[in-house]
Amino acid sequence: MPMPPRSTPKLAVLIDSDDPGRVVDARTLAHDFGHPVHSISETPADIDVALAVTANRLELRVLRGDKALVGGHGTASDLSALDTTSGPGRSLSQPLLKAVGIKRRNPYRPAVLDATAGLGEDAWVLASVGCAVTACERNPITHALLADGLCRAMNIDPDTAARINLTPGDGVSYMDSIAGLSPAERPDVVYLDPMFPTGRKTAERKAMRVLRLISGDDADADRLLEAALRTATHRVVVKRPRLAPPLAGPPPAVTHKGKSLRFDVYPVSLNHEQL
Ligand SMILES: C[S@@+](CC[C@H](N)C(=O)[O-])C[C@H]1O[C@@H](n2cnc3c(N)ncnc32)[C@H](O)[C@@H]1O
Repeated sequence: MPMPPRSTPKLAVLIDSDDPGRVVDARTLAHDFGHPVHSISETPADIDVALAVTANRLELRVLRGDKALVGGHGTASDLSALDTTSGPGRSLSQPLLKAVGIKRRNPYRPAVLDATAGLGEDAWVLASVGCAVTACERNPITHALLADGLCRAMNIDPDTAARINLTPGDGVSYMDSIAGLSPAERPDVVYLDPMFPTGRKTAERKAMRVLRLISGDDADADRLLEAALRTATHRVVVKRPRLAPPLAGPPPAVTHKGKSLRFDVYPVSLNHEQL
């Protein structure tokens, strides 16, 4: 079971728009999530984290607590703003692409299950090069942020957005639900990026630290690897901080290192009867 955040923050939905349609959206989200809804001008002082419904997007705002996270721009899923083509963008995504098995001048594009989708950035990088991606996110607020980001990205890069199939709920349950399918119907690659382990200095971005406030530390991450190894037909890829131990289970066969991150690769060999 997912571990609750260390000290559960007080959450609310905030209406930050005069558009009557957005007010309805905010009320619907608040009802679905079981959180109170307030207009921005009447935000109670004890709210720690707010899901703000603005005129054009959903964003998470930290109102109290860790000073490094309070204020500034809200955290949103901003997929079409990701640089996936120029020099820095390409080098940033390169270890991920290598890890899932994509090679220069080779048209192979695996079907990927991203079982820990978060704000969808890695899913977007994979979809931008042509992979069909199924993306599972279990935290309902993060799922709403990602659904909103994907909807906005659809207007800007519809081809990439259409390759991502967003599925709410737990990645392990999803993998269990497709366990009976033939290998041809299962994902080639299962990609895992649970929250980085705490207690060590990692280059965790502000957006991930904000998500951690609402979704906790993903202390159950090891069960993802076990399910992924049963589900993928080619390989499992796990993103980790460069110096963190791998997830519990068999050791990775190969590791692709970036500056502060690494991608652990676990090849999967199917029994002959399964092929
Ligand atoms: C570090 S973030 C992933 C970031 C993502 N790779 C990106 O590019 O935006 C981890 C996310 O995985 C989600 N998560 C963790 N375990 C999960 C599970 N078993 N099923 C679905 N989502 C899970 C958490 O709720 C969190 O949003």
